[in-house]
Order: sequence, then structure tokens, then C-alpha cells
Amino acid sequence: MPSIQIKEKIMNEKVRQLLNQQINKEFYSAYLYLDFSNYFEDAGLDGFANWYKIQAQEERDHAMLFYQYLQNENQKVTLEAIDKPSKEITCHMDVLKAGLEHEEYVTSLINDIYAAAYEVRDFRTMQFLDWFVKEQGEEETNANDLITKMELFGSDPKSLYMLNQELGARIYSAPSLVL
Ligand code: FEO
Repeated sequence: MPSIQIKEKIMNEKVRQLLNQQINKEFYSAYLYLDFSNYFEDAGLDGFANWYKIQAQEERDHAMLFYQYLQNENQKVTLEAIDKPSKEITCHMDVLKAGLEHEEYVTSLINDIYAAAYEVRDFRTMQFLDWFVKEQGEEETNANDLITKMELFGSDPKSLYMLNQELGARIYSAPSLVL
């Protein structure tokens, strides 16, 4: 009887480790945004709370995409502990600025994985990451827009109410990347 050969897919270990680490980073992002949502819920701004809750869902999706990509490539996945969200928050603007700072950090992580994949000519991983490169551009723009709106309208109660209404209208949509 002929033996069945399972084809093993080879991935550079550094690239695998960075992709695996990104699962944790994305789940941490979800946790961080849930913390932000919780802050705004307590502050009575349910629209802001909604916006960050949906952001948390998107981050969970990102984590699952990295998880699925490694599994599809027959690579080992190791799940680590997720850190406690630890951003210092004393006002609404602190949250928005921490969000932008965090997205810039995530962009640097995606760039690091991309650079590692590029170095070993891992074109499949680079193609997978292309979606995230674009997504990070959008996430940074969104975080910047929120800061601008808060600067413009945050100090006027009526305008803040309107902004809260606007953010309350955000609805979840599944990521356009399917693996
Ligand atoms: Fe998954 Fe907001 O980066």
C-alpha cells in the first residue's frame, strides 16, 4: 500500500515567531479597545463606547486572521497570556491619543514582519500582510480623525452630543480578507 505523504510547508522561524506574536498583539488590541469602550460607557458617552467596542471586534478578527494564516501554512501556533490594558487615562482625549499611539505601534509591528518576510523572500506572507499594511493606514486615519473631531467639538456639550450620536452609528462589518 503506498504511504500517504503529507507535504510540510516550510516557513522561516523568525517570520513564524513574529506572525505568532502578532496573534497576541491583536488580541491585546481588542482588550485595549474594550477597556476604552468601558471608559466611555462609564462616562455616559455610549456612542464612543460603541465605536471602541466595534474596534475591539475588528482587532479580534485581525488576531484570528494571523491564527488562521499560520494554521493554513501548517505552522505551529502558541497562545500566550494577554497583558492587562495599562494606558493612563484621565480624560476623553487621553483615550483617543492612546488609540492613535497604539495604532502607530501596531503599524511598526506589521512593518517588522513584512521586513522579515522580505528578507527571506517569503512572498506568500508578504501578500498576506499587504491587507494589513492597507488596514493600518485606515486605522491611523480613523484615530487621527477622532482626535481632530474631539479638538473641534469636544468642549461644547451640544457638539459632543452630536459626535457621540455619529460614533454610535458605527456598525460592525467582517474583514474583507478571507483565508
Ligand atoms: Fe489590528 Fe488596529 O490593528
